[in-house]
Amino acid sequence: MMEDTKMPLIGDKFPEMVVNTTQGEINLPDDYSGKWFILFSHPADFTPVCTTEFVAFQQRYDQFRELNTELIGLSIDQVFSHLKWEEWIKDNMGEEIEFPIIADGTGDVGKQLGLLHTASSTATVRAVFIVDPEATIRAILYYPAELGRNMDEILRMVKGFQVAQKEGVAMPANWPNNELIGDSLIIPPASTAEQIAERQGQVDRGEIKSYDWWLCYREQ
Ligand code: BEZ
Repeated sequence: MMEDTKMPLIGDKFPEMVVNTTQGEINLPDDYSGKWFILFSHPADFTPVCTTEFVAFQQRYDQFRELNTELIGLSIDQVFSHLKWEEWIKDNMGEEIEFPIIADGTGDVGKQLGLLHTASSTATVRAVFIVDPEATIRAILYYPAELGRNMDEILRMVKGFQVAQKEGVAMPANWPNNELIGDSLIIPPASTAEQIAERQGQVDRGEIKSYDWWLCYREQ
């Protein structure tokens, strides 16, 4: 119900909460201080699309960890259901789920994060929260029940955030395979006449490339 649903926004701090998981109690976001984490919710255990999503996340878990990023699943199912489902996935698909799954039986976490979208629904939607090492929510994605998520896009987003932060740049569409500038990085647009002249100098010296003073880019 709307009055129960609080939707955190990009730029908000992730709300503090203690959650019950397949790996015991976890304090969010404090237990992940200094790490990125992806919290993703799914409608229910033992459902087909969700099962393919868990296998896909597990198969990329090493790649997420290389980016100092942890995964946390969530649904309103109980811990015993999560554990039985994990056992089924291991026995039938050969993947051992190594990340914790939150058991949000009361729906309290779902209500705090805006994961219960319809008045009649007790199932959480497919949501993804990307949270940075300072506990700031950097991205929120919502998917419908009938469409499984693209884990490579979630990996791309974490990589993009990290490069943007380190290099002070922005990423073009479909980075690192942009149709115009490939894997080059976009330099934030100049905002003063002085900066425009400076950009022009950089272009003339071959330090950066540009389509115009407001669309400059450089190699990684
Ligand atoms: C699924 O994961 O397959 C699923 C879950 C809820 C509704 C529809 C499909």
